[in-house]
Amino acid sequence: MAQYLTENVQKITTNTLQKMRNANEPIAMLTAYDYSTAILLDMAKIDVVLVGDSAANVMAGYKTTLPITLDEMIYHASSVVRAVNRALVVVDLPFGTYQGNSKQALASAIRIMKESGADAIKLEGGAEVIESIDRILSAGIPVMGHLGLTPQSINKFGTYAVRATSEEEAAVLMENAKLLEEHGCFSLVLEKIPATLAAKVTGSLHIPTIGIGAGMATSGQVLVFHDMMGITQQFSPRYLRRYLNLSEEIVGAIEHYIDDVKNHNFPNESEQY
Ligand code: KIV
Repeated sequence: MAQYLTENVQKITTNTLQKMRNANEPIAMLTAYDYSTAILLDMAKIDVVLVGDSAANVMAGYKTTLPITLDEMIYHASSVVRAVNRALVVVDLPFGTYQGNSKQALASAIRIMKESGADAIKLEGGAEVIESIDRILSAGIPVMGHLGLTPQSINKFGTYAVRATSEEEAAVLMENAKLLEEHGCFSLVLEKIPATLAAKVTGSLHIPTIGIGAGMATSGQVLVFHDMMGITQQFSPRYLRRYLNLSEEIVGAIEHYIDDVKNHNFPNESEQY
């Protein structure tokens, strides 16, 4: 059994993230949608595992995050929760399960918490979803906000370009960030906004901000696992640092296996009974 499974691990909570922010210790967050990946993230001591609705793109091949369902998110989340001992597990509420109806929002959040065992939920938006946030928080469910580029609104904006570049949009984002903090969100994702604005927002809040394409001043960073490992290839925004080029390695290994099979090199005598 891996040592980390037997160690007395100190579980990361929303309080831990607040303490890290207060101590200026950067928070590292990555996505996972399955058991085997989540085990690796926890072994490496990631702080937060996000079961993002980017699963719609990465796992299911949809063009947007809109089609993924609550049942599918719960399936991904429960697979991740079974793997994780240490990290905080945050799960995205999918499109259509919380906007415009706070009772439905609470029911969706409760299903995620009850059926997956996750630690918190994340949802996109500011003032327009504040009633839903209030109701979810009133049930004792921690909420992570998400402002800036909010992929569930892609049909409204029509582009994945950098957000809040105008003074007006930046001011609205700042207001929303303060609102989310006032109402009790424990943290806030800032996606694809100017670094100067992310720095201003981070400096104006007491809760930790987690950036993706938001520069270096946020309290933490998040990337999609499949992007930073180079498993996905078509997606290359400026903010993405690839730590491996796994797609090349995996395709190479598959070609090697095919070659071995075709040439009677696999299995050999020691690989049979
Ligand atoms: O769904 C997701 O992966 C996300 C991150 C990009 C923040 O929301």
